[in-house]
Order: sequence, then C-alpha cells, then structure tokens
Amino acid sequence: MRVHEADVLVIGAGIGGVACALRLARDRARKIVVITREKDPLEGATRHAQGGIATLGPEDSPELLVEDILRAGAGLSLRRAAEILAEEGPRLVQEVLIEEAQIPFDRSAEGDLHYTREGGHSVARILHVGDHTGEAIAKGLHALLKELPNVELVTGATAVDLITFPHHALDPHTVYEPITCHGAYVLDQQSGEVHRYLAGATVLATGGLGRIYRYTTNPPGARGDGLAMAHRAGARVINAEYVQFHPTTLAVPEGENFLISEAVRGEGGKLLTPDGRRFMDEYAPSWGDLAPRDVVARAIHREMTLRGYPYVLLDVSQVENFPQRFPTIYARCRELGIDPEREPIPVVPAAHYFCGGVWVDEWGHTTIRNLYAVGEVACTGLHGANRLASTSLLEGLVFGDRAGRRIAEESPKPIRPSQVPPWEPARDAAPADPALIHRDWRSIQYTMWYYVGLSRDAHRLARAIRDLRHLWEDIVDTAGPGSTTPSWACETAFRRR
Ligand code: SIN
Repeated sequence: MRVHEADVLVIGAGIGGVACALRLARDRARKIVVITREKDPLEGATRHAQGGIATLGPEDSPELLVEDILRAGAGLSLRRAAEILAEEGPRLVQEVLIEEAQIPFDRSAEGDLHYTREGGHSVARILHVGDHTGEAIAKGLHALLKELPNVELVTGATAVDLITFPHHALDPHTVYEPITCHGAYVLDQQSGEVHRYLAGATVLATGGLGRIYRYTTNPPGARGDGLAMAHRAGARVINAEYVQFHPTTLAVPEGENFLISEAVRGEGGKLLTPDGRRFMDEYAPSWGDLAPRDVVARAIHREMTLRGYPYVLLDVSQVENFPQRFPTIYARCRELGIDPEREPIPVVPAAHYFCGGVWVDEWGHTTIRNLYAVGEVACTGLHGANRLASTSLLEGLVFGDRAGRRIAEESPKPIRPSQVPPWEPARDAAPADPALIHRDWRSIQYTMWYYVGLSRDAHRLARAIRDLRHLWEDIVDTAGPGSTTPSWACETAFRRR
C-alpha cells in the first residue's frame, strides 16, 4: 500500500475542485493532487449542466441577482453568501472562464455575449454554450489544469474515508486536540488496493447525492460519498432536507434521467397537461412557466397526482431554432423517437441538486480542522431551501477559488506517513456482495423517492426513518459490525468484476 504526499489533496474534479486547484497552483512550489473516482476526469455533474452559468446581464445589478437568489431560496438563504457570489462571480467568469479558459460562450453575429433566462431570474443573465455549457466549461478548466506541472490528476481513485485524528491516529494523545483532517484513504480501482493520500489541507469536492433517489438527473458518482465521509468524521452537516427537484426530465423509459434544461422555458417553452391545458399560471400568476423551479416541480407533481397523469408536456413550438439552440436535447429526443418541432416533449420532475451539505464558512472551512468543502457537497447557505437556476457552476467557481485563496494563506503542513496506519478492512467484514448492494441501493432509492420526495409529510418521513433503520441493521448484520465504508463496498463490488 503506497503513501502519496502533497500539500493539498482535492477530492473531486468538477468545477469547485478544479477552481480551487487552479488558484492554489499559482504557487509552483505547492504540490496539489486532484483525485476523481471517474476514469474520464471530465465525467461528473459539472459536465452534465446544460443551461448555463449565471453572471450579470446587460440590464442587471449585483443587488438584483442577490434578490433573485434570496427569493428562490424561500427566505432561507444566507444573504452574505449571495452577496459574495454576486460581487465575485462576474469577475471570475470574465477572468477565469472567458479570458483564461476561453470558454466559447454563445455570441450574436456582432460578437456580443448571448444571455438567456431561466426560472426565478428577473432578467436574462445566463451565459451558455448551446445546451452543453457544463461540458464546455469542464473541458476548458481541465485543459488549464493539464498545463500545470505542480498538479497531479489521478483518475479511477475513490476516496473511501477521510484520515482524521484522533480516529486514525497511532498516537493516543491526539484525542486532546480538535478533530483534524490529514488526507484520505483512497481506493485504486485498478489494483483494489487502498492507499494513504496525506496532505496538509484536504478539499472535499465530491458533488451531490441525487443517486439516492429513484429518479434523478445526476450521474452515477453522485452517491453522497463525500457527505457520508465528512459526517462519519464528525463534520457538521446542515440543511440536508433541502433536495431540489428539477421540473423537467425526459419521461420515456430509455431516456430516464435525461435533463430538459430550464433554459427551454427561458426561450419560450410552455408546460401543458397531456390534454393540452396550460397550468402554470394557476400556480404562479406573476411568473407562469418561469417560476422558481421548486414551484414548477410541485405544480407538475400536483397535476400528475391529482389527475393521474404519468407526465406533463413541454411544448417548444415557440422556441426559435430549437435544434440549433438546444442541440443535445434535440438529438436525444430524436434518438428516442420524439420530434420536438412537431410534438411536445413528455417530462417529469426528478431529484436534481442537494442544497444542504457539509457546513462551510465563506472561505470553505468545515468544522474539522484542515478539511475544506466546495461545490455541491458543501453548504455555504447560498441556496437556502431552493437553488436559483444556473447558480451551481458559479458557486463552485467562486467558493472553490475562495477556498484556494484561504488554503494558500494558511498552508497547513502535512503529517509524516509514520503517524498514520495503513488502511485495514475490518477483520469481520464480509466481502462486498453485488446482489445485496444492488438490492440495498434500490431500497434506498425507492424509499427516498416515495417518502422523502417532492411532497412529504410526517407520516411518510416516519416511515422512511423506520425502513432505513431496518435496512441499516440488515446491512450491518450481513456485512459485519466494523465493516468497511459504503463507497469501498460499492466500488469493490461493481468495478472490479
Ligand atoms: C438546467 O439547465 O435546467 C439546469 C441548470 C441548473 O441546474 O442550474
């Protein structure tokens, strides 16, 4: 089992982790290791973001953006986080994305940037690259990262536990110190070995947890691994009840989980019931189809439940040049036999974004010393109970950069390898059994979907707690009481066969 040493370990290679690494790498003497569980480093939630990245539009102001964020967040957002985003975001979009990474945002024939609108935004302020903005940003940022001699990117590497003292310390006296993070135990998916990655600062950038729901827009890596690791280590987790549901994902079996961007409604798309009735004006008279997404998702859910519809429809006949403006969505619909120019697209809501997370202050500090968190796994308070559309990439960029700046100032020192024991799977742990793990995942996903979904009440939540506790007891019974971590079990059961 090898030991890897660095000044900073970044766990996750989406926009938050990469923005942090890019900032830190400006000092070429600092060694940064970025790990990702994916084989393709571009894979992850950032890549799948379609709509765009919010900034300030031509008829806009930081104050207006702050007000939109707070309104969408249902009064539960932290104003300071929104102010930071509105102050620093537009500058970073310009410097990092437009000038350094040269992201080819859509422009008019005259060369002016094109700003689109999405639900909850009072003006057009969202930059985009067609409907594949996340992919373009991920490519641009990774191209910058690749040029840096002091950044090592390791793929196929899953963090399975944080190394925290006193939990993993050989010296019992560390119990008298605050809980401190010194890196992570990381599974090399190829060899099946778990290595120690030691670092002065560790940055969690592991993304969200949509995959704990039966229907989600999230990629397979969004299992909540980072949140679980931080929670096990004792970090404070907040607002975990605020899971955002995207109103519109494709409602055909083969197209499951495919997002239909809110920008489609921003450009004129209209929601209809299957019998052709427009309904959003009844639920949000002043916003109609462009209401904040929690309002739209609940309205669709209510229409479906009350009237027994299996889906609702998104009519894009009024969207100008739909195939050119939304090429990814158009191509996917055509693949599945739907021609959006001739017929409306069937859509349903799905779990989309985790607004809660590991509590962080405005510099990315968690409650564990030398552990920072950025992006979806972190909770800056920005999103309150509901995130404003197209603010997630911006949050990753802004708060990733801030964490990088603060880590550079604090420069915590790594510990020596002799102070940390090698990873040892618990002796009583049974080998990970794919059949059990698959079944357990399905149980979790259905429980979350039906009882902790878009519409909740005390009765359903109580049932979810009971069912999940029961499942937990079963897992401990079969896997052994001191068994290895869930991410280790999943990766070893599925990846190495
Ligand atoms: C979308 O394109 O609708 C998703 C954008 C986001 O989640 O902010």
